[in-house]
Amino acid sequence: KIIVIDFGGQYNQLVARRVRECSVYCEIYSYKTDLEQIKAMNPMGIILTGGPDSCYEEGAASCSKELFELGIPVLGLCYGAQLMMHVLGGHVCKAPVREYGKIEVTVDKTSKLYGDVSEKTICWMSHNDYIEKAAPGFRIVAHTADCPVAAAECAEKKLYAIQYHPEVLHTQEGTKMLHNFLYEVCGCSGTWKMDAFVENSIRAIREKVGNGKVLCALSGGVDSSVAAVMLAKAVGDQLTCVFVDHGLLRKNEGDEVEEVFGPNGPYDLNFIRVNAQQRFYDKLAGVEEPEKKRKIIGEEFIRVFEEEAKKIGAVDFLVQGTIYPDVVESGLGGESAVIKSHHNVGGLPDYVDFKEIIEPLRDLFKDEVRKAGLELGIPEKLVYRQPFPGPGLGIRIIGEVTPEKVKMVQEADAIYREEIAKAGLDRSIGQYFAALTNMRSVGVMGDERTYDYAIALRAVNTIDFMTAEAAELPWEVIGRVSNRIVNEVQHVNRVLYDCTGKPPATIEFE
Ligand code: XMP
Repeated sequence: KIIVIDFGGQYNQLVARRVRECSVYCEIYSYKTDLEQIKAMNPMGIILTGGPDSCYEEGAASCSKELFELGIPVLGLCYGAQLMMHVLGGHVCKAPVREYGKIEVTVDKTSKLYGDVSEKTICWMSHNDYIEKAAPGFRIVAHTADCPVAAAECAEKKLYAIQYHPEVLHTQEGTKMLHNFLYEVCGCSGTWKMDAFVENSIRAIREKVGNGKVLCALSGGVDSSVAAVMLAKAVGDQLTCVFVDHGLLRKNEGDEVEEVFGPNGPYDLNFIRVNAQQRFYDKLAGVEEPEKKRKIIGEEFIRVFEEEAKKIGAVDFLVQGTIYPDVVESGLGGESAVIKSHHNVGGLPDYVDFKEIIEPLRDLFKDEVRKAGLELGIPEKLVYRQPFPGPGLGIRIIGEVTPEKVKMVQEADAIYREEIAKAGLDRSIGQYFAALTNMRSVGVMGDERTYDYAIALRAVNTIDFMTAEAAELPWEVIGRVSNRIVNEVQHVNRVLYDCTGKPPATIEFE
């Protein structure tokens, strides 16, 4: 595998994704990870990511010189490149000209990185510092008009430093460059394939579980469904799936989940539906703060599971559908700041009444989870279901959650989804939903003044849910949806369309 060492840059997950797209498995670790630990993993190569620091300043994120002496190929990107040069005796300082955006780079095609790359190629730059002088033993293999060292290499030691960002799609031949590093320099053979992952996971789960009893937290979303089916295939009826209806699901969703996973569905598992709506509403009463809401919902979930587990008797394992972006965004993997505490990770209380947690999808990105789902034979309809967050409508109602507000957002969302499907757009939009803003405003209905809520419509296109753009829905569709919502949903007199991308907004509202 490849190790990606995270220095806190914004594209770090992207680096990992690109590596996996080259059919090479990789994992992200913080720069604080012990060198011995990295050595023990015996990686085929190491990639140092970008980051916000200046490597020559006191307290900057750093790495030891020994990292470059292990004989393992290292590729430094942006900050990673500067750090490599700095540590090995080159000179990094504030650039006289700050480069940002698409810049033409001239490359030396004799470098292993650039064999099949055009001599002049557009790359994505984003840096304040620059490498003024490469470290001794390095040769410069790319430059731009303002940047004398856009890339440098010490081929003999397999060390490569790239100032720009090959992982960003704006770097037109970036994937080729990463591919070249992985295959030509590290000697990877591209064996990271989904069928093998699924097979290995099932085998590993079987070994780990033995005759143990397994309890699975099923939400009906893509992640937990894929996790549940994987577990069902691995351990059959040792698995009990508990589906908690927390009253924050989309309209009719509880029944739909029961249809698929319940006794009449295609899978051989024990299925229990817990109707815990009121418990959640009680706990959420009066709570407005998003992180608090997330924590409450996450914690209540675990409590409900504990209770179910006690009824079932001794349970050894708890399954969760955590996926890799959840892990990284919660600040547990890598260096990225905590943006939201994700339901499956950050909301976990300290005390959990199970022997161990199994998270079979912990290493996968969303699109990889879908591939795994198809590999497992899960119907496409379910696999391509749009993602739904663990805390559900709880984070699509800004501020306090009440049963009345849940109903409003459910109805509005159902109308939205129905119209999107009718317009044939349901498979082409990454994620779309209605949210209830906590805003009320003045309107007029008939001859009456109203003072009611505004519904926000969100639709985004995204590849990996780490970044997203607002989708351009046909005006006609938006018009129809908003007409129906104000007519059919009580206490809504206004519909707004969210045009913000991620960043700076997130996909969900809280
Ligand atoms: P954000 O709002 O962070 O959402 O841009 C990114 C993606 O993650 C989903 N999401 C969650 N999924 N538990 C989940 O399982 C959560 O707590 C959670 N919060 C957000 C969101 O729907 C989007 O697809």
